[in-house]
Amino acid sequence: MSHTLSFEIQKVNQPESFVNKRFQMIEQLYNDAENNRLEFWNTQAKKLTWHQPWNTTLEWNRPYAKWFVGGTLNASENCLDNHLKSQPKKTAIIWESESGETITLSYEDLSNKVNQLANALKEQFSIKKGDRVTIYMPLVPEAAIAMLACSRIGAIHSVVFGGFSAPSLTDRINDSSSKLIITAEKANRRGQEIPLRAIVEKALENTHQKNIPIITLHQKQKHANDEDFYTLLNNHSTTCEPTSMRSEDPLFILYTSGTTGKPKGIMHTTGGYLTHAKYSTKLVFDLEDTDIFWCTADVGWITGHTYLVYGPLLNGSTIFMYEGTPDYPHNGRFWELIEAHNITIFYTAPTAIRAFMKDGEKIPKQYNLNSLRLLGSVGEPINPEAWAWYYTHIGQSKCPIVDTWWQTETGGIMLSSLPGYHCMKPGIAGPPLPGININVLSENETPVKNERGLLSISEPWPSMLRGIWNDNERYEDVYWRKFNTYFAGDGAYIDNENDICVIGRVDDVLNVAGHRIGTMEIESALVDHNAIAEAAVIGIQDSIKGEAIAAFVILKNNQEESDDLVQELKAHVSTQISPIAKPQVLICTPELPKTRSGKIMRRVLRKIIDGDPIGDTTTLASPDIITTIQKKVKLS
Ligand code: WT7
Repeated sequence: MSHTLSFEIQKVNQPESFVNKRFQMIEQLYNDAENNRLEFWNTQAKKLTWHQPWNTTLEWNRPYAKWFVGGTLNASENCLDNHLKSQPKKTAIIWESESGETITLSYEDLSNKVNQLANALKEQFSIKKGDRVTIYMPLVPEAAIAMLACSRIGAIHSVVFGGFSAPSLTDRINDSSSKLIITAEKANRRGQEIPLRAIVEKALENTHQKNIPIITLHQKQKHANDEDFYTLLNNHSTTCEPTSMRSEDPLFILYTSGTTGKPKGIMHTTGGYLTHAKYSTKLVFDLEDTDIFWCTADVGWITGHTYLVYGPLLNGSTIFMYEGTPDYPHNGRFWELIEAHNITIFYTAPTAIRAFMKDGEKIPKQYNLNSLRLLGSVGEPINPEAWAWYYTHIGQSKCPIVDTWWQTETGGIMLSSLPGYHCMKPGIAGPPLPGININVLSENETPVKNERGLLSISEPWPSMLRGIWNDNERYEDVYWRKFNTYFAGDGAYIDNENDICVIGRVDDVLNVAGHRIGTMEIESALVDHNAIAEAAVIGIQDSIKGEAIAAFVILKNNQEESDDLVQELKAHVSTQISPIAKPQVLICTPELPKTRSGKIMRRVLRKIIDGDPIGDTTTLASPDIITTIQKKVKLS
């Protein structure tokens, strides 16, 4: 039945120790939030260090929110200076490279480096408050240093995932009109080197702004024209006064895919974002002083911003950062790292868990995972089988699992069961955090129960996006046109205990291995190739990635279909956007199923791929095309 869940709910109790420690504290949070939501958020915001206190908690002028108005603070000061007095020698970052080198930075080390870079940005590159800086780096401590250095002087960072190709980088540099690029010579991935610096060079050929300066983290050779990351640091002082920022001054822009060909620059501001980052990290992950927290996300995604960098540092925790992938040089790599570094909290994506599951439990069994005490999942729905495997074989049936739903736009976790408080329900994220109000709505905007509907956040929250960079109209359109309250773009089911299971996107956005990719973006990359006249992209089910990409293309008249061309077209998407956007299946077809008005019917393509009956085809302009495509799909 499509209006309920496709699986049965099987509750799992929280470990006693967590219940004893946290139940009352969490009950109190829920009560406080319910009694006076704004006062509740005031209390959370007061846990940050402010230069000036705010005078208004929330100014809401739908769809524009301002939180903690009148307050001033600095992000890097809250992440670093706040801990320098009490714990300067505490480890802030432990990093390990793919090949096994390690770097350990104490809060003092990290703070010194951040200040040095901040001084360099200010003095040598004249970067000022409000200027944009693009960070295009591997998953190395220097990426976090760069982010924090920007925030120290009030520059707005725009981190671009190191897997994006030159044209994607050009678009993001142009859209944000960045004044400086911070990059690295290369990134290491599965034993191969990705030449980030060369990609930057290519990207800069097409930027509007010419001669944008580059700071490069050199690993082997030096680039004559750029400033070398560490030489620069060594030339600057380790003290730098943090710039006082207004609560609503932007902290960063992060590009994410939507339903058009152009990515959206999601904008987050300072006070509200930091408040929620600090609060949610502590609450959801039960962070304690002795924890070693490993969030496997790259800094190029929102999870890397909130739960790899800002959230844990705001709480004075120790972060573990790993440069590589789970399966290189062997598929026990993650478990080896957990054992070696005594990781206590591990936060990863369902796609990784499903890949581990496929390799079999024998692999994690070879390692000592006793240090783990809490596990997390993010990025896509986690199926109950993967949940159970994660719980049993990684958590050894003693670690609570948090299945956290949120988005680039929400800035931090919105839905999750809380360790020590809620019963866990494998496959179901859970209720909203204290202070967050969420409904599942029917098409006519009434909240539903025991039913499927559309996910909507019903009250403004501190870490909400403040808009799309340079595009208010799109912001209003995408999130605020459908309902009176924020429309998340996800379908969801809510059970009779108000626990919410997020089922997946209801728009033309795919979730491939936890990465968000718009179908239109891939289509425009395809038609940009001179062999292609038209393209349609859909998501297909994939047992590991959740979703994979299938593309249907119409070749231009003068083009001959061949295996080589198919490979070339797939590779073209990879070089235009990113390897994560590469179609798994690409089918050349003489026509696409369209309505009489010319709209591509992706629903029909989906049914053809799934081998399902097509149903009513009377609206199709030329129904014969279905058999042609069906034959092609069979052959492919
Ligand atoms: C989309 C947001 C949140 C950081 C990583 C992705 C899907 C995310 C879950 C979850 C079901 C989830 C949604 C959402 N999603 N977490 N726990 N259960 N779906 O951030 O790239 O902005 O993507 O990821 O579809 O809208 P993002």
